[in-house]
Amino acid sequence: MSVECRDDIVETGTGAIAAALLEHYDMHARDLPWRVSPATRRAGVTPDPYRVWLSEVMLQQTTVAAVTGYFERFTTRWPTVEALAAAPQEDVLAAWAGLGYYARARNLIACANVVANEHGGRFPETEAGLRGLPGIGDYTAAAIAAIAFDQPAAVVDANVERVVARLFAITTPLPAARPEIRKRTAEITPRELPGDFAQAMMDLGATICTVRNPSCLLCPLAPHCEARAQGIAESLPVKPPKKAKPQRTGTAFWIEQDGQVMLVQRPGKGMLGGMRALPDDGWVAGRDGSGQPPITGQWRVIDAAVTHVFTHFSLELALALYRGPQIDKVAIENLNGIWWPVERIAEAGLPTLFARAASVAIQHR
Ligand code: ADE
Repeated sequence: MSVECRDDIVETGTGAIAAALLEHYDMHARDLPWRVSPATRRAGVTPDPYRVWLSEVMLQQTTVAAVTGYFERFTTRWPTVEALAAAPQEDVLAAWAGLGYYARARNLIACANVVANEHGGRFPETEAGLRGLPGIGDYTAAAIAAIAFDQPAAVVDANVERVVARLFAITTPLPAARPEIRKRTAEITPRELPGDFAQAMMDLGATICTVRNPSCLLCPLAPHCEARAQGIAESLPVKPPKKAKPQRTGTAFWIEQDGQVMLVQRPGKGMLGGMRALPDDGWVAGRDGSGQPPITGQWRVIDAAVTHVFTHFSLELALALYRGPQIDKVAIENLNGIWWPVERIAEAGLPTLFARAASVAIQHR
C-alpha cells in the first residue's frame, strides 16, 4: 500500500499541531462578542484593538460567562478608547462592580487615558509596547499582540498551560514548569494566524481539554498528545499544594435615615479601592477589623451576615444596623460619606461583598 492511501498517518512536527488546531477552530470557534470569527476574518474584517484589550482585561482571572454581559454593557456605553477615557471614573468603577479584582478597573481607566492622550487613541502593536501600559502584563500583552495585531506571540493563560503541559507530557509541577510551557507554546505558535491559534488554544482548554474528564475523543490534537499516549492527561499540569487562606472578621455598618443609607468611597488604592461601599471597621487581608462603629448609638449586630473569599483570605463580615438616635450632622460629615436612596441601592455600583451585605440589611431593617 502506498503511503498516499493511508489515512492513519499522523503528520508530525510543530506545524502539524497548529494546522490541526486551526482546522478544528474554523468549524468550532466559540461565538464570543469580542471575537472576529474565522469566516468574518477571511472576509477581510480585522479585530478592533480596543475590544480585544477590554475583553482581555476583563477575562483576567474571570470566566467567559461572567464577562460577556459586562463586555456588552461597556462597549455599548463606551464604544471607543477615547469614550472610555473621557468617562467619569466613578461611572466606570460602578459599571465594573461585581466583576471583582478592582485594581483591574483602576488600571483600565489609567490605560485608556494613556492610549487616548499619549498614543493618539491607537494601541501599540508590539508586545513590548503593550507591556508599557497600565495593567498590561506579559499574558495580556501577548494576547493583544496576537489577536489584534497578528504577532506570533506565545499566549499562555491557565487553559493554554493545561493544553501544552498535556501535549508535551510536562510533569514538572507548576510554577516551575512555566518556562518550559512558554518555550513549547512559542514553538507551536504559527506565523500565520497566530491570533486565531491563541484563541483556538483557549477554546480547546475551556471546552475539550478540561481540568477533569477531558474529552480526548473529540480533541483535534489527540494524535499529537504525549500525555494521552501515556494515559496521564487528567493528572497534568501538576499543581503545587494549595495554601490555606487566613480567616478574617470585620463589620460593615448600615446607617439609614429617611429612606437613605450612608455610603462611603473607599480609598483609591488597596482592597476594593475607589469603589462605593458601606462604612466598615478597617478589616484588611492582614488583620481583623476593630469592631468599632463609626458613630456612637444603638446598633443591632447580625453576626457572619456575609462570607466572602478573596484571593489571599476569607472574610466573615458582620453587619451592624444603626438604631438611633437621630444622627447629628458633624458625625456624618466626619465619615465623609454620601446619602444614597435605599430603593436605588442597585445603581450604587457596590462590589459583590457590600451588595450582599446591603441585601441582608434590607431584609433585616
Ligand atoms: N480567555 C482569555 N482571553 C480569551 C479569549 N480571547 N477568548 C476566549 N477565552 C479567553
